[in-house]
Amino acid sequence: MSEYARRMKTMEESANIIKGLFGTMNDPGMISFGGGAIAKECLPVDKIREIVNDVMTAEGRGYEILSYGPVLGARDLREVIVKDLLAPKGVNADADNILVITGGLEAMYLMCQLYIEPGDVILVESPTFVHSLETFNMFEANCIPVHMDEDGMCVDDLEAKIIQHNPKMVYVIPTFQNPTGRTLSLERRKKIAELGSKYNVIILEDDPYRDIRYSGEDLMPIKAFDKTGHTVLANSFSKIISPGSRIGYVYANDDIISKMSDAKSATNSHTSLLPQVICAEFFIRGYYPEHHKLLCDVHRERRDAMIESIDKYFPKGIKRTFPDGGLFTWVELPEGLNTSELLKESTSNPEIKVAFVAGEGFFTEGNGKGSNCMRLSFGANPPERIRIGIERLGNLINSKLK
Ligand SMILES: Cc1ncc(COP(=O)(O)O)c(C=O)c1O
Repeated sequence: MSEYARRMKTMEESANIIKGLFGTMNDPGMISFGGGAIAKECLPVDKIREIVNDVMTAEGRGYEILSYGPVLGARDLREVIVKDLLAPKGVNADADNILVITGGLEAMYLMCQLYIEPGDVILVESPTFVHSLETFNMFEANCIPVHMDEDGMCVDDLEAKIIQHNPKMVYVIPTFQNPTGRTLSLERRKKIAELGSKYNVIILEDDPYRDIRYSGEDLMPIKAFDKTGHTVLANSFSKIISPGSRIGYVYANDDIISKMSDAKSATNSHTSLLPQVICAEFFIRGYYPEHHKLLCDVHRERRDAMIESIDKYFPKGIKRTFPDGGLFTWVELPEGLNTSELLKESTSNPEIKVAFVAGEGFFTEGNGKGSNCMRLSFGANPPERIRIGIERLGNLINSKLK
């Protein structure tokens, strides 16, 4: 048989982490803090059924939905994105500068199609989202880590590394970051936009969690401070309506959107129209505000249950983040504890059956960095199950420290 392309090798490690993740998510006996899904109680099944029944008629939008559509995406969805999602965040976009994509992750794929040759440098947060690393690795990019602290990516280190490595792209998840739950400060948002302009480097701002905030003050996206078009904003409907809808979008300047539409067209012509129309109608019918409140209320309660349980059941002296929104908290256990080993035991022991994501895969350093860390997602389980799972995990960790 023919040999696989080299990219299948360079992406192998991150692909395996993701396969493992989906494996534990599908075991009903497992309490999984692994995936990055929102609560199923927040999936608007009834409203979506109503919308589908209404639109899928010959007099309604049936023919439009079942035909080929525009590469950029359905006009009304792009207008909803501009009016309901971007304008309230201080971003004044034109619907012609929005490209609807098949899930937020397609932004990373398309950006690599546009910019990345094998060996090109992408600067990423340390740690960063493993699924994006998988894409970057598939394009044989050289991912170089930038330090993070409680306020997100450190801009001094970023500037030093831009000068040192001449990157094609900086990848940043500014709000309730995956995997740490941390949020980039306002000052740093402004600074990162400036650095993109100053050094002529693309800033890929990936911001799918920004609309699910449970506490603290809303912050404008990096894109709101971009004066030169160097920042590209990617977002998704996965965390605000449904991950199964596979709807995301990119907002960028004319030139980038035009090139990206070419790449999108060559990849899959355009994103499926049925979920686009459903998402647009959901907003146009005025369902979003009430739904958004439910999303925030449900996840705030789950976040609080997880943080309180960690504080109660995990050993003293561990470090954890407090996310003001999103789905994740990040835990640092004492040095010497290996979370990949812990994960094997916690998922295979029938008395425990708790899954999480081990920390190491989120780092590109490759020297064992993050091997004492774990990402815990509070999206998928109700508070009571969160408490049980964290207690079991805490007992296991405590037993290792004895
Ligand atoms: C930081 C980040 N970017 C992008 C995505 C991709 O979202 P989607 O499911 O819309 O492809 C996710 C999903 O977990 C994410 O955490």
